[in-house]
Amino acid sequence: MPAIIAVEGLSKTYAGGFQALKSVDLTIERGEIFALLGPNGAGKTTLIGIVCGLVTPTAGRVTVDGHDIHRDYRAARATIGLVPQELHTDMFETVWSTVTFSRGLFGKPRNPQFIEQVLRDLSLWDKRDAKIMTLSGGMKRRVMIAKALSHEPRVLFLDEPTAGVDVELRRSMWEVVRRLRERGVTIILTTHYIEEAEEMADRIGVISRGEIVVVEEKASLIEKLGKKQLILQLREPLAAVPPELADEKLELSGDGTVLTYTFNAQDEHAGIATLLRRLSEHGLDFRDLQTRQSSLEEIFVSLVGGRP
Ligand SMILES: Nc1ncnc2c1ncn2[C@@H]1O[C@H](COP(=O)(O)OP(=O)(O)O)[C@@H](O)[C@H]1O
Ligand SMILES: [Mg+2]
Repeated sequence: MPAIIAVEGLSKTYAGGFQALKSVDLTIERGEIFALLGPNGAGKTTLIGIVCGLVTPTAGRVTVDGHDIHRDYRAARATIGLVPQELHTDMFETVWSTVTFSRGLFGKPRNPQFIEQVLRDLSLWDKRDAKIMTLSGGMKRRVMIAKALSHEPRVLFLDEPTAGVDVELRRSMWEVVRRLRERGVTIILTTHYIEEAEEMADRIGVISRGEIVVVEEKASLIEKLGKKQLILQLREPLAAVPPELADEKLELSGDGTVLTYTFNAQDEHAGIATLLRRLSEHGLDFRDLQTRQSSLEEIFVSLVGGRP
């Protein structure tokens, strides 16, 4: 089956001349949770805005479930639910009427059973007659999701779903997202929280300064781009790394008791075996050995250099 979303050569230059997206290519597979991870200002909201028809691209092409977002806008848009970064909804309406109204905006016939199911899934059923202004922040966010799901979209965009929310609410949002995926909804979430991408995503795309830097399965992102370290606790302190071992990527701690070997996760086996043999040839003995894998956080910083 073709990808549910295909983005090709997408660029956006805003009226002031700022180029927010630079020829982005991206495909989203059906049924996955895809995290678009990038610092503030990287272009995440711009990318979502274009796919959802809110921002006009300068160049490029996007299809949603085979529908071109430009030529076949209504069909493309009907496939998508969007939970925007900024929460805005009518505070004086009830949960039920807000969500029902959203469905109507898409020209969908009334379906109270479906709305009930959405509200139950989001633990909002008990609050269906409450005015939105009376709800907690977490419930308001879930109302935004219910609105976005009201017209039965197959793809849900969540733009920074947990920005500025507390840890408990963040975890409950993650649960909500997982349940939606179990129901077959494809999820694209943007985040600048590495932990969120690490926790939630099947695949991660890293965006920086308008460019997609990498797209990978979460596990292989860490595997491919991560550095590993072998940490050896030496039996006898060393004054310096022996000159014969200068070609190895070895670092000695200040007190001479810990030797650290850094290597790429991919070429570990040959490297370690050789290193250990060479160490023993030079009479270096160790009493303990640990390995350490760089975290997604370290990989992210190395990719985006801490700048947007
Ligand atoms: N309407 C706009 N006009 C001009 N510049 C904009 C506009 N919207 C966003 N930008 C700029 O485009 C860049 C990307 O913004 P955005 O897509 O919101 O990033 P993100 O969502 O990753 O934080 C930022 O530098 C932002 O200031
Ligand atoms: Mg944004």
